[in-house]
Amino acid sequence: MPTNLHAWEPLAEQALDAATFGYIAGGAGDERTLRDNSAAFGRLRLVPRMLRGTAGGVDASTTVLGAELASPIMVAPFAYQGAFHPDGEAATAAAAAALGLCMCLSTLANTSMEDVAAASGGGVRWFQLYPMADQALNDEMIARAEAAGYRAVIVTVDLPPYGVRERELHHPFALPADLGLPCIPEKSAAAGSPTPVQTTEMMKLDLDWSDIAAWASRWNLPLVVKGVLSPEDAALALEHGARGVIVSNHGGRQLDTTIATIDALPRVCAAVADRAEVFLDGGVRRGTDVVKALALGARAVLIGRPAAYGLAVAGRDGASAVLAQLISETENALALCGCRTVAEACSALIAPET
Ligand code: FNR
Ligand code: LAC
Repeated sequence: MPTNLHAWEPLAEQALDAATFGYIAGGAGDERTLRDNSAAFGRLRLVPRMLRGTAGGVDASTTVLGAELASPIMVAPFAYQGAFHPDGEAATAAAAAALGLCMCLSTLANTSMEDVAAASGGGVRWFQLYPMADQALNDEMIARAEAAGYRAVIVTVDLPPYGVRERELHHPFALPADLGLPCIPEKSAAAGSPTPVQTTEMMKLDLDWSDIAAWASRWNLPLVVKGVLSPEDAALALEHGARGVIVSNHGGRQLDTTIATIDALPRVCAAVADRAEVFLDGGVRRGTDVVKALALGARAVLIGRPAAYGLAVAGRDGASAVLAQLISETENALALCGCRTVAEACSALIAPET
């Protein structure tokens, strides 16, 4: 059994064909942002506190938009999980739910929202929307998500267009013919699209803040904007009705050379100023990364590739092992920092730049 999140990547490479592995692992351009998301966590130094009674264990539980989680960790929405393992999103959802974590389901899932809901039982779930050009499809998807017990809508705003991903140019990834996109209503052309780029072309290309405002007031589920790096955009998201923002550069898969997410987080949190919940994803691989994100103001983090690798290697058990490792490392890091609860992880834990 791998002992850390990094160790799942080479195992997944062995388990998958080159195109599928390259689709998951790759980033845009020179993959500078992909690397920098992790490297930026490594550049931050912790200043732990002692003698705070945390040696016997800590309470890492928290809430996200009011829903209780066992740890401040969520599964990021990632597409095409049926291509990574036959059990697809159902396996990931079951793993997350059993550990008390939130699963975010992609619009581009190969399993229906209803089947994922059944697999996760009472687990906390959010639905990620890639808005389609046909507005009726968006309303239909959100109505289904609400009926199936999803508790929030994530609107991803940093795609389309699709990033320039060179690994995919070398080894084009296409969805196997037997897999569909059942979250997207059948009448849509996107439901049958085999490649990520073709699916992207079905999306709403002229999205702007007025769409966010209209949806935030029309839909009952709280709306979270994913793909924010600028404090100005975070403030605009709130002004237009969002209840949360996810600081994300799409795991370095879209615009290369953007700021690393952990470097963007403090200014976004300052702009949000406790008016909404701020989340972060990109490069979170260690419990210390989770603690650093909490210390700098994130409510919780989302995990993308490591969960995909665990799923690819061993289905539900693999996804579960990855998430359990991160939960355990997070508790260890909190204890060693002297934090009894996630609320005690504050900015004083991060060493000032020298
Ligand atoms: C993604 N991501 C993504 N995001 C989204 O909003 N909708 C989606 O369908 C997908 N699809 C997707 C597929 C794959 C294979 C990956 C790896 C990622 C982005 C994802 O939600 C998240 O932002 C990043 O994966 C976070 O970075 P790490 O943890 O992978 O470094
Ligand atoms: C990706 C899209 C589908 O990052 O979100 O591959």
